Amino acid sequence: PSSMEVGLSSLSTPHVILNQDELKKIAGYKAVEFVTSGMIVGLGTGSTAKHAVDRIGELMRQGRLKNIVGIPTSKKTLEQAVSLGIPVSDLDSYSVVDLAIDGADEVDPYMNLVKGRGGCLLREKMMECACKKFIVVVDESKLVTHLGRSGLAMPVEVVPFCWKFTAKRLQDLFEDCVAKLRTVVCYCQDGNKMEQPFVTDNGNYIIDLYFKKDIGDLNVANNTILKLAGVVDHGIFLDMATTVIVAGKLGVTIKNK
Ligand code: 5RP
Repeated sequence: PSSMEVGLSSLSTPHVILNQDELKKIAGYKAVEFVTSGMIVGLGTGSTAKHAVDRIGELMRQGRLKNIVGIPTSKKTLEQAVSLGIPVSDLDSYSVVDLAIDGADEVDPYMNLVKGRGGCLLREKMMECACKKFIVVVDESKLVTHLGRSGLAMPVEVVPFCWKFTAKRLQDLFEDCVAKLRTVVCYCQDGNKMEQPFVTDNGNYIIDLYFKKDIGDLNVANNTILKLAGVVDHGIFLDMATTVIVAGKLGVTIKNK
């Protein structure tokens, strides 16, 4: 991949330390510079992609972007786009997407990604497979030397049926791996807390894999996880990103395939 450094935009002032959300906003806004009128645009999910969607809405309101159709990757992004007045559609109507903008949880030096800590990996992967250009927007904390080495989750979407069986089989695929069902805490009417499985927009569960070392060979992991019955898809996105925009304390880097 080739890299290019660009200065921080006017959003930042010299000597001001930017927080993580400000860096995410810079990356998201930078990606929207690649959007032109008439495009079918894939709208990602997460706190970084949200800034890009906000910016598209703002430019449309100002009349600086026209005839955009957004393809949202989650119910949440769909709601955001609709609230901003961005016309939305789906892959059934548009099987080719001009450009997608989405965040990532980990980015390796070859632009491979871990995605889905927000739980939307399946719709993200479906849309990002269909796009001509896929711009990943991240702050510098997401850069890793090898996927899965962060000790943080690598998500796998599974059908709820016998999820414990699937979780065990997933864990057994790797050395030193722990598989955990993702849960959310809910409050009952009597005020008591209750832990429930996190349910994706597709009605499935997420099994998060935690590696002691790392994922190992990415192609092997990609194929073996997908082959397990009960698995719907996983958060390893290999060779899909065409551009990665990284906002860091010292500036923005744009890396192209
Ligand atoms: C959601 C995702 C997100 O893109 C990923 O989790 C990054 O999120 P954020 O920009 O909030 O750090 O894959 O499924």
